Amino acid sequence: MSVQRQERRERFEAHDAEEGKGRRCRNSRKEALVPAMSQLPPRAMWEERYGAEEFVFGTDPNDFLRANLSTLGSGNVLCLAEGEGRNAVFLAENGLSVSSVDLTESGVAKTHRLATERGVVVDAVTGDLADFDLGVAKWDAIVSIFAHTPPSIRIDLHRRVVDALAPGGVFLLEAYTPAQVGRGTGGPQVPELTMTAEGLRGELAPLEFLTIQELEREVIEGPGHTGEGAVVQVIARKAE
Ligand SMILES: C[S@@+](CC[C@H](N)C(=O)[O-])C[C@H]1O[C@@H](n2cnc3c(N)ncnc32)[C@H](O)[C@@H]1O
Repeated sequence: MSVQRQERRERFEAHDAEEGKGRRCRNSRKEALVPAMSQLPPRAMWEERYGAEEFVFGTDPNDFLRANLSTLGSGNVLCLAEGEGRNAVFLAENGLSVSSVDLTESGVAKTHRLATERGVVVDAVTGDLADFDLGVAKWDAIVSIFAHTPPSIRIDLHRRVVDALAPGGVFLLEAYTPAQVGRGTGGPQVPELTMTAEGLRGELAPLEFLTIQELEREVIEGPGHTGEGAVVQVIARKAE
């Protein structure tokens, strides 16, 4: 484990120890939270989680996004289901012109706050991916990090993503797979909300896949993502 990763893990463990108020371990805290969260509709559940002062997924970007920054070029990018803004702010810091959308007002407010603190601009708006207008041939890149929605939203969303990419535009995605369910290290707790490489290959079929893989990796990204995770990763390009 790298020094940076070890430091992040220790920071979040310290956070959990404080938050847990006597609960014995990180994962038991997560499992304790799951039933209560799943009883709320998605918007209310996320508003509640983001209502806290802490950044649930931290303020550092997603590892897969950071590692593949160079594939996104330097044009405009749209971040889907961007939560509290960690990825959008990272992309803005790296010179991209960034827009983002999330279901929650609290997430969008935190995105603006983080951007201001870092001295960058993100055009962050509230919207529902079920009907959010992505535009046509508009984006040099679209980023989807742990943007878990039901198939009734996701399949049509991915069709619109293909349309919304400019010629040569790149789509980058990381999401949990069904193997993540029940681990207690973060992510959706119902298989319906997860994604697979096979499913994404079909949904994004018009794109050329540069990377499409399922793997296990340690996801230490804020108190919301706390350990070994089963993920699918995609980088795909629209034809010129
Ligand atoms: C696991 S969080 C990921 C947040 C962010 N992408 C990140 O990596 O930090 C999932 C996000 O999906 C958003 N979301 C869920 N359903 C949505 C929908 N229908 N439209 C827009 N955002 C949605 C939630 O508000 C939440 O911020």
